[in-house]
Amino acid sequence: MARKNQTLGEFIIENQAEFPYANGELSRLINSIRLAAKMVNHEVNKAGLVDITGAVGEVNVQGEDQQKLDVLANETFIKTLTNREIVCGIASEENDDFITITGQKNDNKNKYVVLIDPLDGSSNIDVNVSVGTIFSVYRRVTPVGTPVTIDDFLQPGNLQVAAGYIIYGTSTMLVFTTGHGVNGFTLNPALGTYYLSHPNMQFPVDGNIYSVNEGNYVHFPQGIKNYIKYCQEEKDDRPYTSRYIGSLVSDIHRNMIKGGIYMYPSTAKSPNGKLRLLYECNPVAFIAEQAGGKASDGYRRIMDIKPEELHQRIPFICGSKNMVEKAEYFMQENQ
Ligand code: AHG
Ligand code: MN
Ligand code: MN
Repeated sequence: MARKNQTLGEFIIENQAEFPYANGELSRLINSIRLAAKMVNHEVNKAGLVDITGAVGEVNVQGEDQQKLDVLANETFIKTLTNREIVCGIASEENDDFITITGQKNDNKNKYVVLIDPLDGSSNIDVNVSVGTIFSVYRRVTPVGTPVTIDDFLQPGNLQVAAGYIIYGTSTMLVFTTGHGVNGFTLNPALGTYYLSHPNMQFPVDGNIYSVNEGNYVHFPQGIKNYIKYCQEEKDDRPYTSRYIGSLVSDIHRNMIKGGIYMYPSTAKSPNGKLRLLYECNPVAFIAEQAGGKASDGYRRIMDIKPEELHQRIPFICGSKNMVEKAEYFMQENQ
C-alpha cells in the first residue's frame, strides 16, 4: 500500500511484489533512474549560472568542457544504467541507434531495455522554465544473454512494464507507474530523498485546460481546428483556459493534476506531428491511462500502435478522458 510521505526507497521495497516478474531487477532500475535524476537535477538547477560558470562550448574554471544539458543528461542516464549493468539495452532521443550493453558482471543476463528522452523541453532551459526526463521500460523479446536487437525496442506501448517522468520544476518530482496506478515522489534537495507526495494520481475525467502550440493553427487538420474552436466557444463550462509550456512533461503534469488535454497534431510541415512514439508518447500514454486518462492519435489508442522505427513520430492527443474523446470525435467527423 502506498502511504503518503514514505520515501521512494521504502515504497520500492514494500511494493516489489507488484512489479512485473519481480526479482529485484526492475527495483534496481528505478533506483538507478532516481539517482541519475538527482544528478541531472543538480545540473539543471545550475543552468542559470551559465554566465558565471561558462557557456556551452567553453571551458570552465575547472578545465571542464561545458556541455549542452541535453547531452549531459543523456550521458548521465546512460552511464548510470550502463555502469551498474541494470539493463541490456538503451535507446535515447540523443542517439541515432540503440546501445547494446554487454555486461561483465552477469554476462548480459539483464532482461530489460530502457527508452529515454533525457531532457524534454530543452528550449526552456535558458529561460528558467520547467523541463523533464521521460523513460519507458520493456522486457526484451530476444533471448537473454544475446545482444539486443531492434525488435527489443520496437514493441507497442501496451507491453511496457514501467514508465515515468521526472519534472524539474519549482520542485523536482519523479512520477512513475509499473502498471498499478501512478505515484508521484517529490525530491527534498537538502536530503536527496524522494517522498511520496502524490499517491495514486488521477487524471480528472473532465477538465478545462487545453494545451497546444496554436502558432501552428493554420497547418492543423480540420478536426483539431474545430476542436480548438469548440474549446474557445462561449457555452456551458467553456471557453477553456489555454496553457502551453512547450515541455510535454510539464504540460502533462499540470493537466493530470488540474484536468486538461495536451495536443501535438500533425501539421502541414510535419505530417506525423513532432513527438516521438517510443520515448515521449508511449510512456506518457501509459501514465495517463494508469491515472484514468487517455492517449490517442485521433483515431487509435497510442499504446496499440506497432512501432516501425526507433525515432518514429506520431500525432499525440492526451489527457482527461472526456476531453480526448471529444477531440477524437472532431477528428473522426472530419476524416
Ligand atoms: P525535446 O526538448 O525533447 O525535443 O521535446 C520538446 C517537445 C515537447 O516536450 C514539447 O511539448 C514540444 O516539443 C514543443 O514543441 P513546439 O515548440 O513545436 O511547440
Ligand atoms: Mn521531448
Ligand atoms: Mn529531449
